[in-house]
Amino acid sequence: MNIIIQNATLITSTQILTSDIRIEGEKIVEIGLHIPFSSTDTIIDATGKFVIPGGIDPHVHLHLSTGAGYSSDDFYSGSVAALFGGTTSIIDFVTPDKGQSLVEALESRKIEAEMSLIDFSFHVSPIDWHAQIENELEQCKQMGITSFKVYLAYLQSIGLDQEVFAKVLQKVAEIGGIVTIHCEMGKEIDQLRDQFVSEGKVEPKYHPLSRPDYLEAEAVQLAIEMAAKADCPIYIVHVSSEVSLKHIQEAQTKGLKVFGETCPQYLLLNDETYQGEFAKTAPYVMSPPLRKTLDNEALWQSIKSGHIQTIGTDHCPFMMRQKELGIHDFRKIANGAGGIEHRLELLYTFGVLENKITLLEWVSLCSTTPAKIFGMYPQKGALTIGSDADLVIWNPNFERTISVVNHHQNCDSNIYEGFNIKGKAEKVFRRGEIMIEDGILRSNLKQGVFLKRK
Ligand code: URP
Ligand code: ZN
Repeated sequence: MNIIIQNATLITSTQILTSDIRIEGEKIVEIGLHIPFSSTDTIIDATGKFVIPGGIDPHVHLHLSTGAGYSSDDFYSGSVAALFGGTTSIIDFVTPDKGQSLVEALESRKIEAEMSLIDFSFHVSPIDWHAQIENELEQCKQMGITSFKVYLAYLQSIGLDQEVFAKVLQKVAEIGGIVTIHCEMGKEIDQLRDQFVSEGKVEPKYHPLSRPDYLEAEAVQLAIEMAAKADCPIYIVHVSSEVSLKHIQEAQTKGLKVFGETCPQYLLLNDETYQGEFAKTAPYVMSPPLRKTLDNEALWQSIKSGHIQTIGTDHCPFMMRQKELGIHDFRKIANGAGGIEHRLELLYTFGVLENKITLLEWVSLCSTTPAKIFGMYPQKGALTIGSDADLVIWNPNFERTISVVNHHQNCDSNIYEGFNIKGKAEKVFRRGEIMIEDGILRSNLKQGVFLKRK
């Protein structure tokens, strides 16, 4: 099907222009004024609307296996929620079982993701070091994986000690990849968690106290120092605190290859959400925890100054029954919250409309820069001739209130409940296919594809 979008205000990470845009098959084929059309073309009038490249969420956990069961969005429901919010590509994770090869884990994760309606890739996680691992990392690279995720927390399960972390950095640098890092000092956090519980301090409010900002910052500093020695590019996921930002800014000023991501929850929510009864506070249990309003402000400033380059969601929702596993012990509360549907509208409402970021920065943070860092650009994250026709017609005037009763995420709570939002992904195209139109999912059978990254 050929589609011409007329009179659009195109917004990319570098410019705003009024133009028509022509889509043929899966690609953008023409951008310009008054593009000629024939009677067989579908014409869409976008007067008064923005057209932006489809959102790319570089940090989601769909169908994540945990001790509390799977995260409650699978690749189908999570991708539907993503589409409603204007996100057309995601990068999820591959975490092997102990002893399983990275390649085998990647292959089986690709099968799990086949039900996704949007295009997908993965950050692959080495969780230990063994004779075959270097070979496996190389094979993953050949299979289109350019980023590898390590955890400095969760030492009892998937976290890495410093010796293995150093080897991973070395090898990933050698193969020309990037290491993404969950920065929290695992040993110290485990000690604090155990200490609180041994003192009978078991409620959700002890979760943030057991994961203080200085233990995030210490891990950020360590990661930066170790990556510098290995000359490996790194990407710090879900940066939540001002003290961590200081290390990132310093490293970037020195010219080190360090990128920073934050998430809407660390910009818009704070640790007051942990005060109160279990049912009200457990939805906010995530790692790192929510911080102070001063941290929110510091993160906005870092976005503005370019020290934080991307917005991911760390989408990892759980049902209340999964959260309730920790009703007598906060360590057992399923960690994570949903947000895949709300990233663009939150950043538009509280970023663009409150003059914290420009429209160009909004597109850059939510689409173009993730595409560039993770080897998807200009296939994704761009409105250029030859790019995939992943695009969103954004209605800047639409208003609504986020709620568990109207969201598409498969979750019985929503950490943004009651937030008044302006702006809406009115039409969403994924590789030329109209997926969302006026609040309705149009294309239920058009699967997303695995993105081989470069
Ligand atoms: O609490 C969170 N963020 N859960 C998801 C897993 C992780 O740590 O990224
Ligand atoms: Zn995560």
